[in-house]
Amino acid sequence: MSSLPTACVIGAGSSGIAAVKALAQAGYDVTAYEKSDRIGGNWVWGNANGMSSAYRSLHINTSRERMEYSDFPMPKSYPDFPHHTHIAKYFDDYVDHFGVRDRIRFETGVEHATRRPDGVWEIALENGGTDRYDALLVANGHHWDARWPEPAFPGAEDFEGVQIHSHDYKGDDPEFFRDKTVVVLGMGNSAMDIAVEASFAAAHTYLAARRGAHILPKYIFGKPIDQIGGSPLIPFAVRRKVMQGMLKVYLGDMERYGLPKPDHRFGDAHPTVSDDILSRMAHGTITAKPNIASLTRDGVRFTDGSEVKADVVVYCTGYKVTFPFFDEGFITAPDNDLPLFRRTFHPDIPNVFFIGLLQPLGAIMPIAEHQSTWVGDYLAGRYALPSPAELRADIERERRAMFKRYVASKRHTMQIDFDDYLVALAKERRAGEERAQAQRHRQPVAPRAAAVAA
Ligand SMILES: Cc1cc2nc3c(=O)[nH]c(=O)nc-3n(C[C@H](O)[C@H](O)[C@H](O)COP(=O)(O)OP(=O)(O)OC[C@H]3O[C@@H](n4cnc5c(N)ncnc54)[C@H](O)[C@@H]3O)c2cc1C
Ligand SMILES: NC(=O)c1ccc[n+]([C@@H]2O[C@H](COP(=O)([O-])OP(=O)(O)OC[C@H]3O[C@@H](n4cnc5c(N)ncnc54)[C@H](OP(=O)(O)O)[C@@H]3O)[C@@H](O)[C@H]2O)c1
Repeated sequence: MSSLPTACVIGAGSSGIAAVKALAQAGYDVTAYEKSDRIGGNWVWGNANGMSSAYRSLHINTSRERMEYSDFPMPKSYPDFPHHTHIAKYFDDYVDHFGVRDRIRFETGVEHATRRPDGVWEIALENGGTDRYDALLVANGHHWDARWPEPAFPGAEDFEGVQIHSHDYKGDDPEFFRDKTVVVLGMGNSAMDIAVEASFAAAHTYLAARRGAHILPKYIFGKPIDQIGGSPLIPFAVRRKVMQGMLKVYLGDMERYGLPKPDHRFGDAHPTVSDDILSRMAHGTITAKPNIASLTRDGVRFTDGSEVKADVVVYCTGYKVTFPFFDEGFITAPDNDLPLFRRTFHPDIPNVFFIGLLQPLGAIMPIAEHQSTWVGDYLAGRYALPSPAELRADIERERRAMFKRYVASKRHTMQIDFDDYLVALAKERRAGEERAQAQRHRQPVAPRAAAVAA
């Protein structure tokens, strides 16, 4: 029997497969449970799990080289911003490349995860049965549970047209927007993509938002924009100034295109990336509007008092972070906020870990990889956490800085800067290795589940 704890991963999207691969390589007995019949999560358009928010036309907006795992490059034949079919295939290939497909139990949703008083996790499965593990890695994704405007806009119940959340927009019906008047709400990436798509078929498209955004092109001076952010050794304030200057030269002010002036500095909101929105606005096919105030039977009234007739309203209003398999009140993220040590370790529960539960300026996948090997080191006793007081202080410090910097919004509760996060994590891992050696650290989570199950 292995002396390492047994580990369970919930989810085999891009975060879950990084965890399975890292733990399998480190010698763990690891099993992932996946609701769907395949891996890839959000990137499987029309995924049988009903959880994918992908639409037919979706391409990544973080560049290929930013998104790929460190030891498995995407094929060079891929474009810089591949289609979702490329991305889903890439994740599928990753699992076979590292030989971990047999660690994943497909069509096996986790219904309930209970932590017993002795720390063992009981994993109750949707198709019956309960398995037990010493450690639980949660990788169930955070872009599948649609957040509709709360409360609904006055009059929403009387609107006779179609109201849809971006999660449910699949882009599979070319007639969906045909000759309709469409109102798209939001200034995030879903709103950009869907407004642009609508604008090619609709009679007219309105883009409504309660605040503006610094819209980024995919390329600047011929390079993917996320590859020219500057070294994390340069202070963020300097990097921000340089990027702001480049954008000013390259695009000019957002107001020039009819968009609202952003109420925040560049870098203080999750990046909104679109090559097309400004061009569609310049062509007069999309008109910007302020927030929706109310809906009427056949139209939308905006907060500036203007009103348009509308057939379709698409709410691109983001997602809720939820863990339906935990007891209510056990581990929750009210308003999307779940404080974690470096977005990975729970401050109170030593054997639950979160993979990919973060919003980087950059891609999630390479970070999920680092989180996973870090958890592997921890469970093996090679890394020791700081003291509980230091750990809490670290969480607080990080949260204070994030909430101070970012626009107050439920979409800004777990923001990190990709490069800065990885530099800081490498430093923390070195410090934790020294702590482990100094303390003659033993495995923090004893292998108990196997003994119990036997
Ligand atoms: C439209 C859209 C475009 C995006 N574009 C980018 C991008 O370009 N770059 C980027 O870095 N990020 C992007 N994101 C963010 C996205 O969250 C990540 O790309 C990625 O999907 C995160 O992977 P994940 O594994 O954490 O979550 P998911 O991809 O959501 O996978 C979670 C998996 O967990 C499984 N699961 C959930 N609950 C259970 C359960 N109870 N039991 C068993 N299995 C379960 C699901 O079936 C699923 O397979 C985008 C998000 C959206 C919505
Ligand atoms: N092509 C791509 O790669 C692509 C495409 C789509 C999505 N994504 C990713 O998927 C994730 C989710 O993106 P998203 O655009 O769906 O959601 P999001 O980033 O959370 O954006 C939600 C938008 O809706 C607004 N909003 C929320 N509630 C509102 C309300 N009640 N009234 C008015 N406005 C409201 C928000 O405004 P505030 O800022 O004021 O809160 C914000 O503009 C992001 O990580 C994104 O990068 C990527």
